[in-house]
Amino acid sequence: MFHRRGSVKRISISKLCYVLAIGGTIFVFLQLYLDLIERKSAGYSAYRRIIRKEAISEDSEGDLLNVNDELLIETRNTIASYSKPMIPIEEVVAAIILCEADETKPYKGSISSFEQHIDRAKSLLKSIVFLSQQHIKLHVLVNSNEVIRGITSVVEFWPPQQRNKIALKFRKVSSQSTLGVEEKTRVTCVSKKLIFEKMYPEEDALIYLDTDIVFLRPIEDLWRVFKNFNDEQLFGAVTPLWRIFNDKPFTEFEKMVNFAGRGFNAGLLLLNLTRIRSQAEKWQAALQSALEVVAFNEQSLFNLMMNLNPEHFYEMDCEWNFRLGLCTNVTHRCPGLVANGVHAVHGNGGAFFKDRNVVLKILHEYWRDLDMSKSLNNVISELNAILPDAVLKTPPCDLVEGLHEMLMKHMKLLDGKLDN
Ligand SMILES: *[C@@H]1O[C@H](CO)[C@@H](O)[C@H](O)[C@H]1NC(C)=O
Ligand SMILES: *[C@@H]1O[C@H](CO)[C@@H](O)[C@H](O)[C@H]1NC(C)=O
Repeated sequence: MFHRRGSVKRISISKLCYVLAIGGTIFVFLQLYLDLIERKSAGYSAYRRIIRKEAISEDSEGDLLNVNDELLIETRNTIASYSKPMIPIEEVVAAIILCEADETKPYKGSISSFEQHIDRAKSLLKSIVFLSQQHIKLHVLVNSNEVIRGITSVVEFWPPQQRNKIALKFRKVSSQSTLGVEEKTRVTCVSKKLIFEKMYPEEDALIYLDTDIVFLRPIEDLWRVFKNFNDEQLFGAVTPLWRIFNDKPFTEFEKMVNFAGRGFNAGLLLLNLTRIRSQAEKWQAALQSALEVVAFNEQSLFNLMMNLNPEHFYEMDCEWNFRLGLCTNVTHRCPGLVANGVHAVHGNGGAFFKDRNVVLKILHEYWRDLDMSKSLNNVISELNAILPDAVLKTPPCDLVEGLHEMLMKHMKLLDGKLDN
């Protein structure tokens, strides 16, 4: 009995080895075959897993804060070919400022709450990234870690093809006065936009953006506007300011703080930092003179500075800074709008949050809530369905014939050209 059991055991082991050898070979081939099918169905696009690593460190003065955004790309296949590689022609560099009210300072009611900041940044960032085919480096100036976490969480869960288009560079600024002006400074954090050339010595140029802006055209088209500067120009903005369109003649003060008698809006600026640095003396002298006239208001300061050196100013197309006031008299205030369409809308004065500004509010909310995995075609049909009615509900824009078409123009031109 013992012997029989032993012989049975021997036979079954050798059979088992045999079966295992054949089975193993089949298994390996099957694996290879399945892998091939899988890769084919994935269009040979690599499986990428992105891990965000944030190293937050404060420098000795507790002033600067660097978030090193490391992207670790893991590929499952050894053949890591990306179906649609993004080849940056020229990186777009932009900057936004998100300053939370400092409770210890006066005027705290005049700036947005944390929620409004994040809310506005969502629609700005989504509209920029969604419509862009370029890599964007976005400098974000903040005065609290909470805002850094808030903004980071905005982009974190976008699909990788959208997330990979933008690199966020946070810098935490102290609430100490930048310009050596006393406590009149309303929000010292915001004043940093007057010294970008010093803050970012590594950058050649940047686009400054208020957060209450929504893009309706790729930001790289705005970056190309830098190329229109003549040799002396270093600063671009959109004129005019509407408040000058009244019958009363300008006071001397109004003349000073409104560039060329028209004024420009400082919510969207093109700054060639290389050139500002090369004109450092002139620029600093103008800033100091401006500070003697206006204690604090960056827009007035910039207007005043440009009045002192008008050769530095490049007048941008008004289509890049569409505000509601423009609707009052489009042919006079922005004649190019009808032919060129709207490039970006600006909800200045809290317009995104006011019920009567239906069209701006709807655009802001649509982009804020957008699922970034949607297609542009989808976005176009959804906006087409809501915009005409929204325009009709927004006086005085209801009188601008075809405004909804102007708002959609560049997205329609882009349709079929984006990889989204
Ligand atoms: C800014 O000015 C410098 C110096 O003129 C020039 O080389 C550079 O191309 C300009 N930057 C942009 C973005 O046009
Ligand atoms: C627009 O402004 C121009 C110049 O001030 C004026 O002549 C024209 O009548 C205005 N149009 C409307 C519709 O108000």
